[in-house]
Amino acid sequence: MRKSMFVAALVAAALPFAVRAQDAHPSVSASSPDGSIVLTVSTDSSDRPTYEISRKGKLLIAPSKLGFLLTDAIAMERGFSITGSEKASADSTWEQPWGESRFVRDHHNEILVHFRQSADWGGHLVDVRFRLFDDGVGFRYEIPRQPAMDTMNIADEITEFDLVPKGTAWWIPGGEWNRYEQVYQKTPIDCVSTAHTPVTMKTDDGTYLAFHEAALVDYSGYWLKHVDGGLFRTTLAPAAEGPRVTRKLPFDTPWRTIRIDDSAAGLVANNLELNLNEPNKLGDVSWVRPMKYIGIWWGMITGKWTWAEGPNHGATTARAKEYIDFAARHHIGGLLIEGWNKGWNGNWFGHGDFSFTKPAADFDLKAVAAYARKKGVALIGHHETGGNIANYESQMDAAFALDESLGIHSVKTGYVADAGGIIAPGDKPGEVRMEWHDGQRNVEHHLKVIEEAAKYHIAIDAHEPVKDTGLRRTYPNWIDREGARGMEYNAWGQFANGPSHEPTLVYTRMLSGPMDYTPGVFSLEGANGVALASTVGKQMGLYLAIYSPIQMVADFASKLEQFPAEVDFVSKIPTNWAESHLIAGEVGEYAIFARKDRDSEDWYVGGINDATARTLTLHFDFLKPGETYKTTIFKDGEGATYLTDARHRVATETRTFRKGDTYTLWLAPGGGAAMRLHPGK
Ligand code: NOJ
Ligand code: CA
Repeated sequence: MRKSMFVAALVAAALPFAVRAQDAHPSVSASSPDGSIVLTVSTDSSDRPTYEISRKGKLLIAPSKLGFLLTDAIAMERGFSITGSEKASADSTWEQPWGESRFVRDHHNEILVHFRQSADWGGHLVDVRFRLFDDGVGFRYEIPRQPAMDTMNIADEITEFDLVPKGTAWWIPGGEWNRYEQVYQKTPIDCVSTAHTPVTMKTDDGTYLAFHEAALVDYSGYWLKHVDGGLFRTTLAPAAEGPRVTRKLPFDTPWRTIRIDDSAAGLVANNLELNLNEPNKLGDVSWVRPMKYIGIWWGMITGKWTWAEGPNHGATTARAKEYIDFAARHHIGGLLIEGWNKGWNGNWFGHGDFSFTKPAADFDLKAVAAYARKKGVALIGHHETGGNIANYESQMDAAFALDESLGIHSVKTGYVADAGGIIAPGDKPGEVRMEWHDGQRNVEHHLKVIEEAAKYHIAIDAHEPVKDTGLRRTYPNWIDREGARGMEYNAWGQFANGPSHEPTLVYTRMLSGPMDYTPGVFSLEGANGVALASTVGKQMGLYLAIYSPIQMVADFASKLEQFPAEVDFVSKIPTNWAESHLIAGEVGEYAIFARKDRDSEDWYVGGINDATARTLTLHFDFLKPGETYKTTIFKDGEGATYLTDARHRVATETRTFRKGDTYTLWLAPGGGAAMRLHPGK
């Protein structure tokens, strides 16, 4: 008896992984640094690779399969066994050039598991690298060089997530028209169909989860497809023709990520995707400048002005100078001018008429740029592609060179192309293909733009983009994106973005990264006087709830002139923070943040509400001990509600706070608030 135990122990020690003795399907396991998250990787009865995740002793993800379907070979799914594993761990802190917080801690344990498929099933090799953090898990496939395959032609990736607890999900449909510009649905978890990520969930036992991905490079974005009960599977955005992804070996897939936390605040503060991206590849990026900006834009969105040349052309030289004067007078850093160029022919989709170097006849680009420089206002360039990436790629170099020569350091790109998708060059000259916005070809295009732009010291704010997967860490000039239903919808219909929309974005879309939502429509009016589902207080609170390093003040300059106190306050709200904390909030209901300026000792507190009036007690525990903070507060006035003209009611207050103080804040239906806490009496 004693002898056989000794032999078993010896065998286990000789193998590179922990074996459950006599088990035909050995497993390896690893845990997060504090031990709360435990991962077990194994194979099932059909020799399919599986993983399972437990948290705090409870099964969260039941054994779930890993694998691929191929277009030209047997699926990389069955016939696998584990041939070894290696462990590592890391604890480091890195600094962001800009962001919601200056420092990010990366504390994880890692296990790399090697799988080999038997020869009769294809003989493929697959490694899976798991990183376990105390607040989430990321894993990716690493496909090594191997005799049986040179290029991998992926029909689909079939990574499963078999979620054990039931609960609620917030999601938008994947693989539908209009990309990510959808109203979020709130449903039971098992009523999700196919969703774009991030998908946010709250389980009935109070755990907050978000499924997403990190480092989406040279691959297709995945949609989370509901299979049955709690079972979900990845499906990749298709390609126009052939495999959904084609890659030469060796290569790594993007990371599949699951944030896991006990609170909404923890879900929001989580840096999982950033930590799974590569460090900054661009070096000194001091030319990437966070700032506030206004735009010759709301006039076009509301239909008063046009992008195209004509009697109502928005981007005239005279109007540009007027807006530059406004920005300089109100200390707003930048000005976006849309419709400045040739090619606005009345169509949006796919045409190749857009020029990115030739200005419209009534727009003197050089004179406007010189005027902006003189007034100390940064111009933001605009490249609407209509989704014709072939046209854009052929002009990109010349366009960025021109922008840099004019002192332009940020460009907003646009990919309005709902009619079918992105127009990419085909195999033969003149041939084109329609591609998904998140397919491999367009993922590749976006990164090409970022890399080209970096050469000219230009930051990119992509609209109708591919989703954010934390690549801003590697390419800090990827300063912003739209990639959700933005403010523009409010121009087109009464309450078009309902009161819950922004408090839902905070816990869903915003988990992926900054968003150019374009707040600051203080008139609360869209086209033909349609109203926003917002109070004035909410417009101010958006600056603290929706992080954007370049943050718009979107209304007409003439309207903004009617809100001098609000504009003055907003012009001071930083766009680059030392720290950020969600101090009160629930998914889809409300969100109040406390954020500390990166360049001063000032704190800002504020946020937004849904349709339900509520009174919150805010705790100012984050302040520096012994310091008194003089505080200016903008909040909803008595009786304010987004439903009536009372949406314009706003109240201001001045008081002092010290660490540990509390403040009772009433939020109107569709309301919000913003406050600045400045050290001193
Ligand atoms: C759609 C964008 O969302 C909007 O912001 C932009 O003005 C138009 N495209 C034109 O570029
Ligand atoms: Ca848009």
